[in-house]
Formats: sequence, C-alpha cells, structure tokens
Amino acid sequence: MTGAGRIGILGTGAYVPAQILTNKDLEKLVNTTESWIVERTGIRERRIIGPEEDIATMGVAAGRQALEAAGIEASQLSFIIVGTNSADYLFPAAAIRVQDALGVNHHLAAFDLQAGCTGFNYALYVAERLVAPEGKYALVIGSDASSRFTDWTDRSTCVLFGDGAGAVVVGPVPRGGILSSFLASALNMKLSCKTEFNSENSPFLPPQKTTGRHFLTMDGPEIFKFAVNAVKECLRRIMEMSGLMREELDYVILHQANNRIIEAAARFAKLPMEKFYVNVDRYGNTSAASVPLALHEAVMEGKIKAGDKVLLVSFGAGVTWGAALVEWSY
Ligand code: ACO
Repeated sequence: MTGAGRIGILGTGAYVPAQILTNKDLEKLVNTTESWIVERTGIRERRIIGPEEDIATMGVAAGRQALEAAGIEASQLSFIIVGTNSADYLFPAAAIRVQDALGVNHHLAAFDLQAGCTGFNYALYVAERLVAPEGKYALVIGSDASSRFTDWTDRSTCVLFGDGAGAVVVGPVPRGGILSSFLASALNMKLSCKTEFNSENSPFLPPQKTTGRHFLTMDGPEIFKFAVNAVKECLRRIMEMSGLMREELDYVILHQANNRIIEAAARFAKLPMEKFYVNVDRYGNTSAASVPLALHEAVMEGKIKAGDKVLLVSFGAGVTWGAALVEWSY
C-alpha cells in the first residue's frame, strides 16, 4: 500500500488503572485457584478501572505519551481512531472525547472502530491508509475495560480479562515503517466472545430477558484452537506478503490472551520465546489495548530498536484476526 513503507510508528504510549485484581482476590469471588489460573493462562493479576476512569480517559493518557514520544503536537493530528469494544457511550465516540481532552477541536476526524481484540490492528491498518496519501499524522489507540461486562460469577471468563489502553502515533517516517499488513474476519458466533445489546425498554420489541444479557460469554477451548490457527495464518500471510523469512523477524508482539497461545505461536514459528513480548501475567487480556500496551512496554524496555522487523499480531471476537509487519524507525 505505501510502496517503500514510508508510513510508520513514531511513538508509543500506554496506561493501566492503578487498581490490581490478583488471582488470590479472584479465589474469594469464584471457585478457582491461583495455580489453575497460572497454569492454564499465565495470568497472575490484571488491572480494573476505577470510578474516575473510562475508555476515553485511559486513551487520553496513553495518547499523550505516544504524542510526546513522537514529538508531535495534538494540533498536527488529522485523525484519532480508538479501537474499543467497551465504549463509554454508543455515541459520541470515545475518539471524539479524546480529541476534546487533547484540545484539538478542528481539522480532525475522530472515530471508534470495533473489531474485538483485533481492534488495534484494524485501526492501525485504517490509519496507515488514511495518512499515506498526504503524509498526515494519526493517533491510534486501543482502549478497553472488559471488567464492565464481565460476569463476575463466571469463573471460566472472569479470570481472563483486564482493563487498559495503548497508543501509537502513525505518520511519515524516513525509512522502514509498515512493510505489510492484512486483516481478516468471519462470522462465528460459537467461536466468538460475545455480549448482547440491551434493548429491553423498547415497546416495539418482544419482551426480553433483562438481566445478564450483556455479559461476555465464550467457548474457551474452541477459541483457543481458533486463536492458534489464526496466529499461524497471520505468520504465513505476512511472510508471503513481505518475502521475509521467519528467522529474520526480530520481535513479535502477539495479542496477550493466554501464555499458552504465545508459546504455541513460538513453536509454530520456530522462534525462541525471547522474541515474544509477554505481559499477560501482569494485565491479563486487555482486548484492543493488548498489542499497543505490550508494544509500548517492549519499546520502553529497549527490546525493539531502529531497523528491527517487528510483527504485530492479534485475533478476537467476531471472529477477526490480522497482522502488521513494521520496520522500526526510531
Ligand atoms: N478455575 C478453575 N477451574 C476452571 C476455571 C477456573 N477459573 N475455568 C474453567 N475451569 C474448569 C472447567 O470447568 C473444566 O472443568 P471440567 O473438566 O470439570 O469440566 C476445566 O477447568 C477445564 O476447562 P477448559 O475450559 O477445558 O480449560 P482450558 O485448558 O481450555 O482453559 C481457557 C480454559 C483458559 C479459557 C482457555 O481455553 C483459553 O484461554 N481460551 C482462549 C480464550 C480467549 O483467548 N478468549 C478471548 C479471545 S477473543 C475471541 O473472542 C476470539
């Protein structure tokens, strides 16, 4: 799409709520154990938003960091895209509240995008194509608070998710940048995590069950299989598109859903686990925030340096999956 790959990531940022929910805390809520959660998922703790936090406030905090790292003023942005599955309002979009908080009230288009846990990869893909023709800048945020629609009595789901946000600034780069990317989706209600829309107050619809409909439900083992296959396809497709060999990959940021999925990906790719960033132990599955949050931490820890070929891969509800290969520019 961008020929020489001149659109890239200029800066990263992240935000997680201060409130920590440990596996021990969950033992008091549902019939589970610390050891079951760690063995099956690798998760030790996750963050939960407080009353003063929401999708937009987390996005603003992560976005400000990304702008600062990129050396870009908010007034230089042409687009703000928030990938989220837990928007504060059906409308206005969280992205418009981010725009307002950043103090940019003109010459800018802000919108949300929903693609399950693949939301960040989807938003990055769209942003690349929006800014490419005119060398503009976009702020791309993944922000989610699954704690809002988690059924805190269901041990099979409530141990998995956490809240947080990650952000990147996308724009022209002198070299490298996004080399190839692709997205995919297929309707599969059985495979998908899903939450239903509540419309029980409408007199024009048949009476509906009024409680619990919005809770997240899923078939964990089926999603696990889907996830491993989706990651394999992402690797294959990106290698084909870029002409790169697997061993030329310097670093992989994989959606942090379950440490066993990351290990399966490493085995398939025949790459050492050291090339995969892991923070699922500290944050759980933060949905659309997962990839940019992990990317930011990897950059901060010096695991990614200029010239590195970095693969960003995610999969999510819908089902959706996608990947981007980035040659790191700074
Ligand atoms: N504590 C203790 N026991 C539990 C818990 C828990 N928190 N949750 C489930 N169990 C029990 C089950 O009831 C089951 O008991 P049974 O054998 O007596 O019936 C047993 O543990 C095994 O359950 P499984 O579901 O088979 O366990 P599995 O090894 O598959 O792990 C898990 C479950 C962690 C959910 C795993 O399947 C997984 O990570 N799947 C992917 C989930 C995911 O990533 N979802 C979001 C992705 S986005 C999307 O929507 C595509």
